[in-house]
Amino acid sequence: MADLRNNFVGIKSPNPFWLASAPPTDKEYNVERAFKAGWGGVVWKTLGEAGPPVVNVNGPRYGAIWAGDRRLMGFNNIELITDRDLQKNLREIKAVKMRWPDRAVVASIMVPCDEESWKAILPLVEETGADGIELNFGCPHGMSERGMGAAVGQVPEYVEMVVRWCKQYSRMPVITKLTPNVTDIRKPARAAKNGGTDAVSLINTINSITNVDLDLMAPMPTIDGKGSHGGYCGPAAKPIALHMVAEIARDRETSGLPISGIGGITTWRDAAEFMALGSGNVQVCTAAMAYGFKIVEEMISGLSNWMDEKGYATLDDFVGKASRNVTDWQYLNLEYITKARIDQDLCIKCGRCHIACEDTSHQAITKEKDGKRYFEVMDNECVGCNLCVNVCPVEDCITMEQLAPGMIDERTGRVVTGKYANWTTHPNNPMRKEAVEPAE
Ligand SMILES: Cc1cc2nc3c(=O)[nH]c(=O)nc-3n(C[C@H](O)[C@H](O)[C@H](O)COP(=O)(O)O)c2cc1C
Ligand code: SF4
Ligand code: SF4
Repeated sequence: MADLRNNFVGIKSPNPFWLASAPPTDKEYNVERAFKAGWGGVVWKTLGEAGPPVVNVNGPRYGAIWAGDRRLMGFNNIELITDRDLQKNLREIKAVKMRWPDRAVVASIMVPCDEESWKAILPLVEETGADGIELNFGCPHGMSERGMGAAVGQVPEYVEMVVRWCKQYSRMPVITKLTPNVTDIRKPARAAKNGGTDAVSLINTINSITNVDLDLMAPMPTIDGKGSHGGYCGPAAKPIALHMVAEIARDRETSGLPISGIGGITTWRDAAEFMALGSGNVQVCTAAMAYGFKIVEEMISGLSNWMDEKGYATLDDFVGKASRNVTDWQYLNLEYITKARIDQDLCIKCGRCHIACEDTSHQAITKEKDGKRYFEVMDNECVGCNLCVNVCPVEDCITMEQLAPGMIDERTGRVVTGKYANWTTHPNNPMRKEAVEPAE
């Protein structure tokens, strides 16, 4: 059976599934039950400086986007960091860590961006026996207006500076949690590395307004007639997170920097995708909030079964395996030619593929034959875009078939060479150069 044990920057846990810093990790009561359910680790809900805790709104703090079946796809919040007393949180972290020595307990921290504030909180956290700290440079609302969270994460110089203080004033491993609210995620990641971080984690939430109440004429969630932007997460955020993880994993300057992947992870498969792109482990928030702590059971069994099936004995056997296949567009093989194929036995003749291709693609699907509804791909028009695959309501009814070398592409009249050729060498490219395969 696959070995799911995880060692992330020296922090050991029985599996790679950690709960992200958020309501599920807000207090001892929650974390205790999370560990009983099987979670490998937690990042405690972000701690702030000593003194009066922050104050949350007393009205709705969540917004949501649903799929047609009411499944939660996108989630939005305007919650701040912990609104519980610092000493109480520290006592609880210590108690939990003592009771669960085999689980990862990481403390998330956010204090003002000055050396004294960081210097003051680090020994207090270290004293709890926590396995490490995560620096919250991501919270996009409320705290950022006070010069913390995303306000730090968006300025690489600040990221580097704070990471340096944390490494200087503490012995704990430092995980720098990045905000996705930047144009190039590699810049804060590089800064964190330069500051000496042990790892990065991403993503925190994305600036968002999920919906507008058209009666109140105000964004939702609405507090007394007004709304503010919140942080977006959940399954709809996963593609953005995966891209950012891949960018850091394949960037020359940060490649090899451990990554904790976060963003929309709901199933073992989501987790495996993050790990294949270079995440050493994963963190989950929205899925636990929507379905409860027990989802980890399916994550553990699913990942374990898949690893057995694929012959991966340990996590290291597949972590990062897909990142080598992430490349720039210019290196994609322009001699890879596909055509759509419709399985007539599965087709329910709804016509959606025809409408999509006819109205917005390449007019490559018939709609009738001998006076009857009949949907078939015309190879002489099909560019292989796969729009029809994505709109067809029947799974696997339309598939893409690669033309083998020697076959003729009826659309262009050209023989398929089967040889790799990309834009860098294409005759239409005024800047073309000698053919080169991207470096592995
Ligand atoms: C209600 C809520 C509160 C959150 N609070 C924090 C926080 O205090 N500190 C933090 O670093 N991230 C916080 N997050 C962000 C999550 O840790 C996580 O990065 C984000 O939700 C993406 O993961 P997900 O798609 O699995 O939810 C919060 C998220 C939610 C939904
Ligand atoms: S792959 Fe694109 S071009 Fe070809 S039939 Fe489907 S939608 Fe039309
Ligand atoms: S969308 Fe799918 S099911 Fe509908 S007509 Fe096209 S191939 Fe058939």
